[in-house]
Amino acid sequence: MQDTHQLRCTGCARVIAHEDLKENFRCAECGDLFEVEYPAWSVQAGTSAKRNFPNPSALRWLWKERRTSTDLKDQSGVWRFRDLLPILRDEDSIVSLREGNTPLYALYRAARATGIASLYAKHQGMNPTGSFKDTGMTAALSVARERGFAWVACASTGNTSAAMAAYAARAGMRSLVLIPEGKIAWGKLSQALDYGALTCQLRTDFDGCVRVLAEIVRRAPVYLLNSVNPYRLEGQKTPALEIAEELDWRVPDHLIVPGGNLANSSALGKAFLEMKHLGLTDRVPKISVVQAEGANPLYRSMQANDGQSITPVEAHTRASAIRIGNPASWRKAVRVVHASGGWVEQVSEAEIALAKAEIGAEGIGCEPASAVTLAGLKRFIGAGKIEASETVVLLLTGHTLKDSDYTIQYHRGDLLRDDELTTLRSEIDSTRRNTVELEADVDQVLRALERAAQ
Ligand code: F0G
Repeated sequence: MQDTHQLRCTGCARVIAHEDLKENFRCAECGDLFEVEYPAWSVQAGTSAKRNFPNPSALRWLWKERRTSTDLKDQSGVWRFRDLLPILRDEDSIVSLREGNTPLYALYRAARATGIASLYAKHQGMNPTGSFKDTGMTAALSVARERGFAWVACASTGNTSAAMAAYAARAGMRSLVLIPEGKIAWGKLSQALDYGALTCQLRTDFDGCVRVLAEIVRRAPVYLLNSVNPYRLEGQKTPALEIAEELDWRVPDHLIVPGGNLANSSALGKAFLEMKHLGLTDRVPKISVVQAEGANPLYRSMQANDGQSITPVEAHTRASAIRIGNPASWRKAVRVVHASGGWVEQVSEAEIALAKAEIGAEGIGCEPASAVTLAGLKRFIGAGKIEASETVVLLLTGHTLKDSDYTIQYHRGDLLRDDELTTLRSEIDSTRRNTVELEADVDQVLRALERAAQ
């Protein structure tokens, strides 16, 4: 890998060298966020002469070959695609937990129920710390290590902090986590503790944690690992490459992604645009973003002014991973939705809970924030936006064990209030599988079995 990248501001298009990046990753001129570009070949640089383009067939072959290698960087589902993310000077800087190479599952039941025959889930919850954050974390934390930082830090709704803590521990670095007190799932908090992060629970929400951290990075030599860090997004491009590879380089018609801080949708969009630009694929899927109704600033912005401006909201949803009212990367997400012809949708708490149960019933499972994708798909079908013949991929972002409290409350019937159930009550009831408490008695268990079989 060479030092071949520069950074372009997504607001005013100013290009800077990576040494000139400020500690908050914002443009000194306009305050917007940067994106990594590779002058030799990237879309943004607008290279007209194709002489520096890598050969698509050779790349496809190389990426597949690397899966059989015993070298750690080849075994990583992020770094085996390192030709499209040359952000490090030295490959020895790589910090990897063998992230990526996650499964693309066919969703048979949901396909039958929705009428979409080719329906898949790309399960990023099957990463080492149980969420999609690992693919971005291996990239940005390796950069932090290469640049000599001792401390890394993030504000988080839980998954970023779990991933950061693990990768920092792996690299022998220290990590500072700021999380909203009482507002993240226990599984995620336990991971930050387990991996040894300095874990500060602040009496505020996620957006409040972001504000505090902005001041910390100005005053202390810590490297910021929130998704405003453009290197995170280079790692988060790789699930898009895997999806294309797993579908024999035929791009799906539609990719549906949950929206929180809105970085992931933009990373995947960047990847699909780059793949097409390089001739690896012949088109870009529609990329749609789905938010929870109570944490829907992008949805509101698209309705009000087609994504020209955004008004922060006070966020409320049980899908705690996406309980974000003031998303940092909203402008990047708007660009991807517009460039790909996708849409932005919102879904209710009951729709999220039902969709999560349905994904669980496939034997796959996911955390609540991931289930907005299936709930959103149903809305798109209802609005006539997606046809039965289309190939659709749902991006599942987190593992079902991240938030087991949510699942247990759902099946016990304690999760949703009556006024939230509305028209979905009977569908939700039919998916609930409450445990039965019995004496240690064979006949009692046999009776339960008979009842269940009826
Ligand atoms: N799904 C899960 C499971 C998440 O943890 C997040 C974000 C998202 C979706 C939304 O992705 O922010 O790129 O739009 N979690 C962050 C965190 C904010 O701190 O773990 P996004």
